[in-house]
Amino acid sequence: MLDRVEEVGSDKRTFFELLGGEAGGIDKIRQLVEMFYDIMDTDPKAEGIRKMHQADLTAAREKLFMFLTGWTGGPQLYVERYGHPMLRKRHLPFPIDESARDQWMYCIIKAMHQLDYDEDLMKSLATQLYGVADFMRNQ
Ligand code: HEM
Repeated sequence: MLDRVEEVGSDKRTFFELLGGEAGGIDKIRQLVEMFYDIMDTDPKAEGIRKMHQADLTAAREKLFMFLTGWTGGPQLYVERYGHPMLRKRHLPFPIDESARDQWMYCIIKAMHQLDYDEDLMKSLATQLYGVADFMRNQ
């Protein structure tokens, strides 16, 4: 999962490269994560999953940023710091059902829209992230 190279059409570049690679990919992922949590924090549609998180989202922001940087094909910041993500296990304390999954997807898709992501890139990224979000479901 961590080293995956995504295909966007016939393009075999990683998401990280498509987002700007070393030049701008890190900033793009930082922006996406900031926007994602800002939406989760304020949009009533995400209230259910917002309540699962701590009041202070600083640590969550940092961890998702580190994770997604590696997951998209950039530097493995999360793994270097915390080791194997074991994401499903780390999410077991939270009751994640279809509604929680869909709220998470709603936030990330809204963030991509607000950041004017290219339509094909957005669809492709959303499809891959949906797979991860659905895998987190534990009820
Ligand atoms: C499916 C719905 C999801 C819900 C409801 C959810 C909820 C949560 C919650 C409540 C935390 C703890 C944050 C805190 O400490 O305040 C967390 C941590 C985290 N989530 Fe999710 N999450 C979901 C999906 C995902 C997905 C799809 C990804 C990755 C693409 C992800 C990546 C992470 C990471 C990297 C952490 C930090 C883990 C750690 O080191 O403690 N989550 N999530």
